Amino acid sequence: MRARSLPRVSLGHFPTPLEELPRLARHLGIARLLVKRDDQTGLAGGGNKTRKLEFLVADALARGADTLVTAGAAQSNHCRQTAAAAARLGLRCVLVLGGDPPTAPPTGNLLLDTLLGAELRWSGPYRRGEQLHHVVEALRAAGRCPYLIPYGGSNALGAAGYAEAMQELARQCDGFVSLANIACMVVASSSGATQAGLVVGAHLVAYPGQIIGIAIDKEETPGISYTEHLATLANQTAELLDTAKTFTPQDFIVMREYVGDGYGVVGEREREAIRLTARLEGLLLDPVYTGRAMGGLIDLIHRRVIGRRETVLFWHTGGVPALFAYAQALV
Ligand SMILES: Cc1ncc(COP(=O)(O)O)c(C=O)c1O
Repeated sequence: MRARSLPRVSLGHFPTPLEELPRLARHLGIARLLVKRDDQTGLAGGGNKTRKLEFLVADALARGADTLVTAGAAQSNHCRQTAAAAARLGLRCVLVLGGDPPTAPPTGNLLLDTLLGAELRWSGPYRRGEQLHHVVEALRAAGRCPYLIPYGGSNALGAAGYAEAMQELARQCDGFVSLANIACMVVASSSGATQAGLVVGAHLVAYPGQIIGIAIDKEETPGISYTEHLATLANQTAELLDTAKTFTPQDFIVMREYVGDGYGVVGEREREAIRLTARLEGLLLDPVYTGRAMGGLIDLIHRRVIGRRETVLFWHTGGVPALFAYAQALV
């Protein structure tokens, strides 16, 4: 099925590689484990936000914006990549970060935000963009033309990036593996547009398998379940792409049992998944998202929720720069 193509700015290296993880697959006792290397999208350290930003920034430019504004945790990959996109296009970037200004020299993503020239604002207990509208109003009052990118880049434009990613994967599978033979895909799921976009893309390419989101956050948005949020995002994305399909919360599989002590708190499951993947495959995962998602995948295999004869695909969504800020929790 063809979707409407949207204005897009080139920021990354696509298609990202599709690779085998044979030693990890053997260790876990499954037939085949593939990894889609979206950590290699190329924009200032790469990661899933590059795909979202290609559509979001195109919209910002069309509206004459001079400043990208977004929010996240101090170690947000989304903020780092937004800062890089802004730098690349000669825009300014304001990041509203959870927490207080650090007293020690910045590290990990925060160091990169600084190198990329972002203006940092600190929002104490708020890391999910609760104060973004005030910042945008203040910038407008100061004569600037800000473009608000929601927390995680998760709106329909951002999700369109992952609908396209699934189509890219379908094209790439030709000859390497049959898309229909991939029993399930596993992806870290937090602000939602990655999983929602993949599910829309799965509809477009008629992918018959499961897309399993591993929830990263303990808390949900008040008044709405996470799967309702995903369905809303997917429906907005389908509409944007002129695709006549309605999604319901039942179209989304989200495993909530791996959130541990909450967002950004590294536990034994993440530590072990990061170590195992590094030592068996020379592949680095991150402490907040992909370490948790791989920990979930390993447990699902151990519990036989994912069968031993299956071919499984792991979406590596990036985040490696955060490793350096989590040294104490990792070793
Ligand atoms: C490395 C990484 N993986 C996965 C995610 C989750 O993607 P989404 O917010 O679209 O659910 C993020 C989001 O910040 C991320 O930085």
